[in-house]
Amino acid sequence: MAQLWGGRFKNGTDKAAYDFNASITFDRRMYHEDIEGSIAHATMLGEQDIISKDDASLIVKTLKEILDDVESGKLEITEEYEDIHSFVEAILTERIGDAGKRLHTGRSRNDQVALDMKLYTRKAIDDMDSRVMKLQKVLLRIIEENLDTYMPGFTHLQKAQPVTVAHHFGAYFEMFVRDRSRLADIRKRMNSCPLGSGALAGTTYPLNRERTAELLGFDLGPTRNSMDSVSDRDYLIEFLDALALIMMHLSRFSEEVIIWNSNEYRFVEIDDAYSTGSSIMPQKKNPDIAELVRGKTGRVYGALMSLLTTMKGIPLAYDKDMQEDKEVAFDAMDNVGACLELFTGMIDTMKFRKPVMENSAKNGFTNATDAADYLVKKGVPFRDAHGIIGRLVLKCIDESKALDDLTLEEWREESDVFDNDIYEAISLKTCVEKRLTFGAPSAESMKKNISYYRNYLNLD
Ligand code: ARG
Repeated sequence: MAQLWGGRFKNGTDKAAYDFNASITFDRRMYHEDIEGSIAHATMLGEQDIISKDDASLIVKTLKEILDDVESGKLEITEEYEDIHSFVEAILTERIGDAGKRLHTGRSRNDQVALDMKLYTRKAIDDMDSRVMKLQKVLLRIIEENLDTYMPGFTHLQKAQPVTVAHHFGAYFEMFVRDRSRLADIRKRMNSCPLGSGALAGTTYPLNRERTAELLGFDLGPTRNSMDSVSDRDYLIEFLDALALIMMHLSRFSEEVIIWNSNEYRFVEIDDAYSTGSSIMPQKKNPDIAELVRGKTGRVYGALMSLLTTMKGIPLAYDKDMQEDKEVAFDAMDNVGACLELFTGMIDTMKFRKPVMENSAKNGFTNATDAADYLVKKGVPFRDAHGIIGRLVLKCIDESKALDDLTLEEWREESDVFDNDIYEAISLKTCVEKRLTFGAPSAESMKKNISYYRNYLNLD
């Protein structure tokens, strides 16, 4: 058991209590951030003459060596240390003796862990942003290739009006635009440095907090209240919220892919690389990846609820409850990262069965609104037009055919306003391409979005 305290204790910690309290098994992944923070702290301590310049440069040099050794696998982070902070300090002291023992001057593990977690989360935000961006690039390619791939648009999962694959995927593109702007907001707001807050009440040493904030890239500078600094986990809750929303979007998208890939729909075919088989039914090819993405959404929501609940009753300032932020947050970060990567690969390799989609759009009365609008343009009040087309739809359902199959005489049985131009007016192409409002599915409208998206993604 290697721990940083013990002076005021007569007896050792109970083994189970020690294990229960220790966090090395999960905070070891913050080794880079812990060392980075210590390098900044030691540099500042030397500059401020709080420790000697020689000690400071020896500490910095050795910390860099420790980082290299951990990264190359020469030095293993083992469970004999209580946490990552104890590990780094113990190895440092082992290597350079008293100078190592001076590193923790004017610092507490409370501001240290607050810093490490912020540095780790900041990187995770950047990583998540680049993963969402990669997905957007794949979506944009699909959008560009499918401006005239017609498919039914649904409401209530009933065929409603025709759209295109480009338009449908464009809807998801927009969700991911919002997700990324949320990540950017959070990153901006969280970018202040808690280092130098001490255990809760700052310190009597003449620390230069602006300097460490600058060294660590915190452009808002140091945090303004030491008690808040060591007990703030808002930024992490915000990040988990952003991750929960990303998962909500991925989950809805997965649900659609699962439906489209089903034997009844057959709109798309998920590539073999992203499908699995059945141990008993030889014919099966299952969309497990999409199902897992949908399934993992629950645990990411769980992480958000978990941390919100952990934080709700904590008196100022630091309390050990806060150690519970890590496992759930790391699990959420790992899983959302993996979901984004797998989902992107699955979508990128997915085949669209264009004739099936188009046929489905043709055979679900998705042009009924346009048929009513045809009458309106010829002077029939919309409510009457709605009734006329409704009766014609009923007739078609009875006779198992589409509106397009009605003869001119049949149209005219309901209204003599109908003429030969009705066929052109309700063709799939007309229904889509005449929808020219900004944000609508016509190729003309979508092209405006494409040039916006290309610019947004810094393409061309
Ligand atoms: N492992 C602790 C955490 O994750 C580090 C801070 C420990 N501070 C303390 N006063 N025991 O929160």
